[in-house]
Amino acid sequence: MTTGTPPADEPGLQDPPDGDHPTFDTSVAHVARIYDYWLGGKDNYAVDRAAGDAALKAYPDLIHSVRSNRAFMTRAVRFLAEAGIRQFLDIGTGIPTVPNTHEIAQGVAPASRVVYVDNDPIVLAHARALLTGAPEGATDYLDADLRDTGAILDRAAQTLDFSQPVAVMLMAILHLVPDIDDPYGIVAQLAGAVPAGSYLALSQIASDIDVDAVAEARDQVGRYMPVKQTYRTHAEVMRFFEGLEMVDPGLVPVQKWRPDTAAEAARPSALWGGVGRKP
Ligand SMILES: C[S@@+](CC[C@H](N)C(=O)[O-])C[C@H]1O[C@@H](n2cnc3c(N)ncnc32)[C@H](O)[C@@H]1O
Repeated sequence: MTTGTPPADEPGLQDPPDGDHPTFDTSVAHVARIYDYWLGGKDNYAVDRAAGDAALKAYPDLIHSVRSNRAFMTRAVRFLAEAGIRQFLDIGTGIPTVPNTHEIAQGVAPASRVVYVDNDPIVLAHARALLTGAPEGATDYLDADLRDTGAILDRAAQTLDFSQPVAVMLMAILHLVPDIDDPYGIVAQLAGAVPAGSYLALSQIASDIDVDAVAEARDQVGRYMPVKQTYRTHAEVMRFFEGLEMVDPGLVPVQKWRPDTAAEAARPSALWGGVGRKP
């Protein structure tokens, strides 16, 4: 479950729970808080719940989608840790939700090092919950925008050794980067910064699964949130993996990526997910 103090319901300008960081606006819905609401967390406001409910009305399977995405993230990190990866760059972390990346990775290898990155002030306000890793390993949090890719790589290098393999994680974030901001260039820059044997693990909301209902859900969220969402087809998501070798079973609906149980595999989602290895 998510951590932190339950926020007030009243919209307006509010201080985050620990008061250490800038005031943020709770009158406009934010993706991290809507996502937290769908996951059953407490770190969301009335406007986030209104946006979340409007989207759910349009696409009731959305609730399964977000949970399938989180389960995919868990399985992908476990797979990577079991494959010997000891360094993770998790961009678009979201509000802490157990298990977080460091808990999964350090559960396999306590010496794992994890750098979290997000640009939402509420995620920053809760970042302390992400910095509680095993003493053998390391965790860090960067308040940064994915589009400032060079700055992220520079700052992450204080915790991660970029001469050794790194898993770059972009879970449910690329739909928030429109084509005009060059998401393919951003992913290529990240993939170019890590050595052979590194991995890219990503999920992205699909524009070619449950097409009408998913588009309506996007439009409903758009009534509450200024950030434009770009959903992508299977072929468009595959382009992010250019130059990488896809790990079996390739790019699939997230619930079909190495599910632990038949029930998990049967839970619907409208996200493509996959893991690629840099040769
Ligand atoms: C839908 S949540 C996904 C959370 C988590 N990765 C998961 O899959 O469970 C997307 C996260 O990406 C963050 N985000 C969106 N745009 C971003 C950007 N340009 N740079 C950094 N973080 C961003 C949001 O604040 C939010 O926390």
